Amino acid sequence: MVKAIVNGNRSKGAINPNIYGHFSEHLGRCIYNGIYVGENSDIPNVNGMRTDVVEALKAMKIPVLRWPGGCFADTYHWRDGIGPKENRKKIVNTNWGGVTEDNSFGTHEFLELCRQLGCEPYISGNVGSGTVQEFSDWIEYCNMGGQSPMAEERRANGQDAPWNVKYWGIGNEAWGCGGNMRPEFYADLCRQYATYMRNYDNDHKIYKIASGANVADYNWTKTVMERAGHCVDAVSLHYYTVPREGDWNDKGPATGFSREEYFSTLAKTLRMEELVENHSRIIKQYQGDRQVGLCVDEWGTWFDVEPGTNPGFLYQQNTMRDALVAAINLNIFNNHCDTVVMANIAQVVNVLQAVILTEGAKMLLTPTYHVFEMYKGHQGAKQLESYVETALIGEGENQAPNLHISASESGGGVLVTVANLSDTDSAELDCTLSGLGKISEVKSQALSGACGAYNDFGNEEAVKPAPLAAELTGDGFRAKLPACSVAAFLVK
Ligand code: AHR
Repeated sequence: MVKAIVNGNRSKGAINPNIYGHFSEHLGRCIYNGIYVGENSDIPNVNGMRTDVVEALKAMKIPVLRWPGGCFADTYHWRDGIGPKENRKKIVNTNWGGVTEDNSFGTHEFLELCRQLGCEPYISGNVGSGTVQEFSDWIEYCNMGGQSPMAEERRANGQDAPWNVKYWGIGNEAWGCGGNMRPEFYADLCRQYATYMRNYDNDHKIYKIASGANVADYNWTKTVMERAGHCVDAVSLHYYTVPREGDWNDKGPATGFSREEYFSTLAKTLRMEELVENHSRIIKQYQGDRQVGLCVDEWGTWFDVEPGTNPGFLYQQNTMRDALVAAINLNIFNNHCDTVVMANIAQVVNVLQAVILTEGAKMLLTPTYHVFEMYKGHQGAKQLESYVETALIGEGENQAPNLHISASESGGGVLVTVANLSDTDSAELDCTLSGLGKISEVKSQALSGACGAYNDFGNEEAVKPAPLAAELTGDGFRAKLPACSVAAFLVK
């Protein structure tokens, strides 16, 4: 029996719903085919957005969606994607496969998608190859309610009311595909861009997110915070979980992986905790009397593409191993909700660690989707400190604790989410809830399977949550967690 404790008397505060955010780039089949099929498609759609995908994302309670990139953002000129579709420029997507981008999905379409999803839009502006004027005009186009050149143009394009887009990213990966800048140079540019990112409505202030570090580049965070921290609300961080390191063309397969790679994936993803803590410490050191958040706006697994697919499309399958990666990262973000203000898994449909895969008119939900769905009760809830006894498991130098936990309290009850990372052993969990009053009910479910199990077209429900037996103990509950599983307990 392993002991876990949820302490109702200790909390780091509310879990920002945006920690459960997603990312959609003009990359492969994410936007086109995956989300947007156009009004004339045979695939059921509302204003061009796939109905099946929109409904699934709503059921998962998607809070925020980042767009249009990624690397694509720093080549994107928003004016190419407005106005009559037949007049829109056809460009080359130079980052992702050199395919033709017809710009049929632009600002109006993205904001229509967010309206249908009921989520916040998060737009990444072009700093790498754009101009201050272009970025500033985009914000005016989206947010100006009164009379102005941009507001008139928006109205002429069919949108009367401003969208009041709150979240704006000042470039993406400015250290790499976003301009190969040095942190000092980016910090100066960030100050300049931020100056002209205006508020057009005091009830809808914009939230400025600086392009942040790659993995453990602490000098980037330090320099940006020191020089530009006073003019942004958050700084981003990108960290992908890649099982093999060294050769970017040999990251390891998404399915059929070895036991060693199972554990290297888990060990690498656990590094997120150290990264969040270290970057947050630096942010706090330089934030002065303001509160600057950490926005992990790209995270997730990055494997070799599925054999036979376009290498530039980053299409990969998604197994129970990905479900554990999702559970670990979401637990980490929940437990650091005092500094992590947003996180966006990459990417929402058909790219990298997607929650949804499509094939023509068909759609399936991945194991990662089910974790987001099982964890959705954490959104906006009060985080509670939680601890679980663990043992180290693994292969060689790739070690991980066998269990990983987070907990929160809301009007719906206390939600305890636990992942069992062992691929061979179940765990008997005895969880005590302290300082949370009388307990009379526990509802539980688990997602489990072989660590390489996945959903595929023709076998869409091989991995899905099932009820899990749990018994009340007076001050908590007991349950047996299957090997390689993610469990959610809702206690009242
Ligand atoms: O998500 C794929 C790519 O990964 C993004 O375009 C970029 O920001 C990152 O390097």
